[in-house]
Amino acid sequence: MSQTNRSGQTVSTEIDLALFGALGDLAQRKLFPALFHLEREGLLDPATRLLGLARQDYDLDGFRKQIEKALKTYVKAEELDRESLARFLARLDFLQLDFTKPEGYAAVREWRQDVGRPMVVYLSVAAKIYGDICRHLEASGSLDDQSRVVVEKPIGYDLDSSAEINDAIGAVFPESRVYRIDHYLGKETVQNLIALRFANPLFGTQWNQNHISHVEITVAEKVGIEGRWGYFDDAGQLRDMVQNHLLQLVCLIAMDPPANLDADAIRDEKVKVLKALRPFTDDMLGRDVVRGQYTAGTIDGQAVPGYLEEEGANTESHTESFVAMKTGVANWRWAGVPFYLRTGKRMPEKLSQIVIHFRQQPHYIFDPDQRGLAANKLVIRLQPEEGIALEVLTKDSGLDKGMRLRRGPLHLDFNSAFPKTRIPDAYERLLLEVMKGQQYLFVRRDEVEHAWQWCDSLIAAWEDRDEPPRRYPAGSWGPVASIAMITQDGRSWYEDY
Ligand code: BG6
Repeated sequence: MSQTNRSGQTVSTEIDLALFGALGDLAQRKLFPALFHLEREGLLDPATRLLGLARQDYDLDGFRKQIEKALKTYVKAEELDRESLARFLARLDFLQLDFTKPEGYAAVREWRQDVGRPMVVYLSVAAKIYGDICRHLEASGSLDDQSRVVVEKPIGYDLDSSAEINDAIGAVFPESRVYRIDHYLGKETVQNLIALRFANPLFGTQWNQNHISHVEITVAEKVGIEGRWGYFDDAGQLRDMVQNHLLQLVCLIAMDPPANLDADAIRDEKVKVLKALRPFTDDMLGRDVVRGQYTAGTIDGQAVPGYLEEEGANTESHTESFVAMKTGVANWRWAGVPFYLRTGKRMPEKLSQIVIHFRQQPHYIFDPDQRGLAANKLVIRLQPEEGIALEVLTKDSGLDKGMRLRRGPLHLDFNSAFPKTRIPDAYERLLLEVMKGQQYLFVRRDEVEHAWQWCDSLIAAWEDRDEPPRRYPAGSWGPVASIAMITQDGRSWYEDY
């Protein structure tokens, strides 16, 4: 099957997919549902085969039943039609394998049967074994010069460990065939950031420190660590969310226009932003960074345990489940513009949103009481209710209002603007791009490494201080200090929409 790529060329999407970690949480919750949606939309090539690999011992029938169960749990009933389901399940094969041992990989080679279409290897497993899997695949003769590898974040826990993992992948796959996932790049509104910035002259001309006073990014989640203590307690919110998702958002907001939409043109610009991020020094810690950890609280009327009471918890843990920070991009475009970031688990709402605060007019002529109102804001809502709102000021209507100002949004709500279009999950788009062999939504090695370098400066400063995180009750917006952090600059976190 062929599809059109972004340059209008026709590309084949005929691949075979080998999914390592096929019985894991991500595969069940996101990857198989995303593949199923591609099937349903007619976007999976008829020849494409899907091989699930896992440590657990299942026969093919048992594996297909398990995937059907996952689809019934994670795909809406009205979208799970029988014909698509039957077609999808028929594509599945299963192989039980101990991923770290070379024995058994001959079976992958056998499954390939020299079919001539590229194999995509998707590693939904711990990053420390990426290298083993790549090596064993190569040694068993399962790969050829068209094979691609898709890897999940987090790649390592600091710059050195990520370099080691990237070296191991790079020893087998050239960079042009490595697809590093950051699923935020597949989200509809994140894609729209590029369109908004680079297709609209209105914003193109205003997008700099002359017109923007500050930028806010909030990524709040209601969920806690969802039974992932072992992983999360070693990582914490900085490594789990900021090093990747939030920094990717910063890049897309702050980057200069790329010369075109080619993967490397975009990624070169993102790297320039990462290199210009202001590093942290010890004296900034008290003022510009707040680390938090949730205690027991209430979300949607339900009592939830504190971080230290989660299953398997180490009750002495100092790992942060919340982080807020003020940073900046030290270059011509962004000099002096603070970027306030905050992200946390067990917050009152699931909300991912970017707010661009424009500067006030240089000379103000309206009611002095309303001066604080008088600036435009662009609110980009990633989830839920994807949309973009531009807050503008108009005159309040009515004979008695004089020249009172009123603030109101020009609002583009994607669900009502495009009611017939289902907003695809990020993984659907990303999997489709891998099939097309397009890398522009994937993270290049130098991006990962510059992001780590910046995070490492913060982690090192934290480690020197060794202070416990501040507590916040589950169901709140984080430690009070995170509100103080922004109010000390005469600003506040944006709350309306
Ligand atoms: C993942 C993190 O990358 O992103 C999780 O590991 C987090 O801890 C998730 O919950 C959030 O993704 P989304 O798409 O729900 O915002």
